[in-house]
Amino acid sequence: MNINLAKQVALVTGASSGIGAGVARAMAAAGARVVINYPNEAAKESALSVLKDIHDGGGEGMICSCDVSKEDQVIHMFKEVVESYGTLDILVNNAGLQRDAPFHDMTLDQWQFVIDVNLTGQFLCAREAIREFLRRGIVPERSVACGKIIHMSSVHEMIPWAGHANYAASKGAIRMLMQTLAQEYGDRKIRVNSICPGAIQTPINKSAWETPQALNNLMNLIPYNRIGQPTDIGNLAVFLASDFSDYVTGASIFIDGGMTVFEGFATGG
Ligand code: BGC
Repeated sequence: MNINLAKQVALVTGASSGIGAGVARAMAAAGARVVINYPNEAAKESALSVLKDIHDGGGEGMICSCDVSKEDQVIHMFKEVVESYGTLDILVNNAGLQRDAPFHDMTLDQWQFVIDVNLTGQFLCAREAIREFLRRGIVPERSVACGKIIHMSSVHEMIPWAGHANYAASKGAIRMLMQTLAQEYGDRKIRVNSICPGAIQTPINKSAWETPQALNNLMNLIPYNRIGQPTDIGNLAVFLASDFSDYVTGASIFIDGGMTVFEGFATGG
């Protein structure tokens, strides 16, 4: 399978680090023009270094600052993308964060911040992307689909997660957002899917892999016995963005080394 995204324009939110950076690199390697979104000034340097890697590899891209939880900023970002590249073909709704706390100690700020970025951010970006897809219509030389949206969800759209109620609630909601959009826009040839990563080695879950002891404990949850890498997610995102997955829509695809098959039951139950 030789995937060529042939200059399709891919916007990856939260692409200055972690899974987003991996997805941005993979999209560029597959020939897409990549918009590397980053949230604020503090992340600009990292966004530029992702862009440099893309340029060094002969790819095309640009950086774009935007807090995805702010409607005016999202509208402005999409304007910038369309002005720069003419349209948008692929949205990877990736930006997300954790603010963990035992539920009885969770502040409204911790709850709201996670919901704002992880859920409202995906709503705002998906809405602007769909508006652009509908405006442009299908361009057969680019793709048989009118547009592709990939939501970055988590195994925690399915696995409850004590101490992370805000995060798990945001990911559970993304499942319904994704499926509803797939249902609502399927007849307009817009494909909408979710990637549900397990433990991927990025800054968001550093405490789960930074010591040998932590990594060892993590392996109790992963039958395949390795932590995931951003390239694992990048490869799946490229497939979902390509016409090779043209019959895939409304799907949550778990990519987790088997985390969702509940390893504890291998010897118990
Ligand atoms: C979380 C990570 C966690 C993983 C598996 C992800 O969605 O962001 O912190 O390691 O799920 O539990």
